[in-house]
Amino acid sequence: MKVTIHKLFDYLLETTAAEPPECFIGFSLARSPRLKDFLGDLDPELSLDWNGKSFLGLPALRQRVLDQAGLELPLDSVLITAGAAEANYLLFRQLVQSGDEIVTEAPGWPQAGVMAKAIGATLVEVARDEARGWWLDPEAVARAITPRTRMIFLTNPNNPTGRLIPEGELRALADLAEKHGIWLVVDEVYAGLEWAGPRPPSIAGMTRFGITTGSVSKALGMQGLRTGWMICQSPEVIRDAMILRENGSEIMNTLGEHIAEVALRPDRLAEALGRARAEGAETLDRLDRFVTEEPRLSWHRPEAGLIGLARVEGADGETLARKLLAPPHRTFLLPGSAYGQPHHIRIGAGGGPEARLKEGLGRLSALLRSGSI
Ligand SMILES: Cc1ncc(COP(=O)(O)O)c(C=O)c1O
Repeated sequence: MKVTIHKLFDYLLETTAAEPPECFIGFSLARSPRLKDFLGDLDPELSLDWNGKSFLGLPALRQRVLDQAGLELPLDSVLITAGAAEANYLLFRQLVQSGDEIVTEAPGWPQAGVMAKAIGATLVEVARDEARGWWLDPEAVARAITPRTRMIFLTNPNNPTGRLIPEGELRALADLAEKHGIWLVVDEVYAGLEWAGPRPPSIAGMTRFGITTGSVSKALGMQGLRTGWMICQSPEVIRDAMILRENGSEIMNTLGEHIAEVALRPDRLAEALGRARAEGAETLDRLDRFVTEEPRLSWHRPEAGLIGLARVEGADGETLARKLLAPPHRTFLLPGSAYGQPHHIRIGAGGGPEARLKEGLGRLSALLRSGSI
């Protein structure tokens, strides 16, 4: 497998090696809880051995995963993974061969492109329509399908625009997958913080060709736990992913599974999402006001999640991101070029008070108005 680096990761690697930023306008996660928030619910006698544990993951956690997704499926339709990233990885490696085509959205999560290249598959991108709020036209997805298509890979909510695919359009995509007998993978890692309309249903419950991936990383702010999942009605897909993973990380980390199980208990989940929603709504309002008042920026406010893509007038996004990161501004955001959108920047309202969002926005405004860019 040929290893290539994507622009997004390359930028992260390069910039994290430099002086640490003072402010972040790029965080995609809700404020992160602390270990002490879970200690009261953890058993101090918990064995950190892995003998006798299910290779699919802690059964109680798998049930919580189904419950939070509103799915009534057997427990064995869930595989617990090291984040949604590992779940996606196992799916690409297992379901796509050299010469196949993967249909995906643009802009979208770069993992699809990296994996397609590594496998020798072709990535077929369907452009989201910026003028229509980054809408993804299911008919354009249908037109992109050829006899070589093996998988459709989408994010819902979309990274980086925060646009939602509502139930009706998911239905059309599910019908498409069934008609052609191709896998429809929907990465729901940003689910849980919907601002416009309800959380769309999980694709794993809509068709036997649907595969949902997700994690506790974003709305719950627990990315460091590395705990996520895939959900699929096909026992073969789950089993093959489990076998493939046996040659990598083997099984999940026990502590991560137990903490995630506590975090996904209905009362804990409702409380955490309530807090993240209240904080997220306030910070997104601030971002929205900022973009509206900045003459050189425009955007479609995200329908879900904490990140969106803003268009920059008169400068390319990467020059802006680099200047903003350098002294004296020392403020981090992601350039749109990380998503193949050179005239945009990705801005985010996550990270809690440590992100120092308000101050970061002040610095961005000063740079945009300085005449130096
Ligand atoms: C769309 C998408 N999928 C997956 C991931 C990885 O998430 P996890 O921490 O669950 O592996 C990210 C992280 O930014 C993401 O944006």
